[in-house]
Amino acid sequence: MSRDILVLYYSRSGHTARLARLVARGVEEAGLQARLRQVPPVAPVTETAQPPEPEEGAPYASRQDLLECAGLALGSPTRFGNMAAPLKYFLDNTGAEWASGALAGKPAAVFTSTSTMHGGQESTLLSMALPLLHHGMLLVGVPYTEPALTATQSGGTPYGASHVSGAQGDNAISEHERELARALGRRLADVARRLADSGT
Ligand SMILES: Cc1cc2nc3c(=O)[nH]c(=O)nc-3n(C[C@H](O)[C@H](O)[C@H](O)COP(=O)(O)O)c2cc1C
Repeated sequence: MSRDILVLYYSRSGHTARLARLVARGVEEAGLQARLRQVPPVAPVTETAQPPEPEEGAPYASRQDLLECAGLALGSPTRFGNMAAPLKYFLDNTGAEWASGALAGKPAAVFTSTSTMHGGQESTLLSMALPLLHHGMLLVGVPYTEPALTATQSGGTPYGASHVSGAQGDNAISEHERELARALGRRLADVARRLADSGT
């Protein structure tokens, strides 16, 4: 198994993608490689062909990425207080990995972006945590020992990293949101390394 941390996300307008890159930076600050991947969009008509590579952002995730990762950070924009359909669709196709236990015992973390402050960040983060628990993953959050968690006036939660993008989608990622996303990546990588070193 590689020591890469898979940072897997869906993002339509780029906010969650930016958060993903900050989580990845945190992973690399902790000395592990981050493998950035996105899930494909879904279409209401099944005959829509998917381009083999996305026009922008990270490459599409493969089954191999799931098998090889030492840990997983999963990100989605909020859709009505829940994860977005493309990520749910991707997860709903991981039955084989569930059956084989491919992700069991690996650490995981979640992150999200909403347009509004109270628009369902925590519920979205928890919605992403549920399938990961079914996969047997070990959930890692953000501890209150991170001073930014108490100080933030925008995103950043103990359940995972987050960003409030604003009604027009023009909020920059705040300093506290940035710190907390990186802290989550570092913590995930640190736990992954400890587990790998202990041979579990
Ligand atoms: C169908 C739909 C549902 C949404 N539901 C919510 C919501 O429940 N709460 C919220 O604050 N924002 C909601 N949003 C806004 C997005 O979560 C927000 O713009 C997010 O930052 C987009 O992330 P992205 O740039 O990674 O796509 C919704 C957007 C769409 C298109």
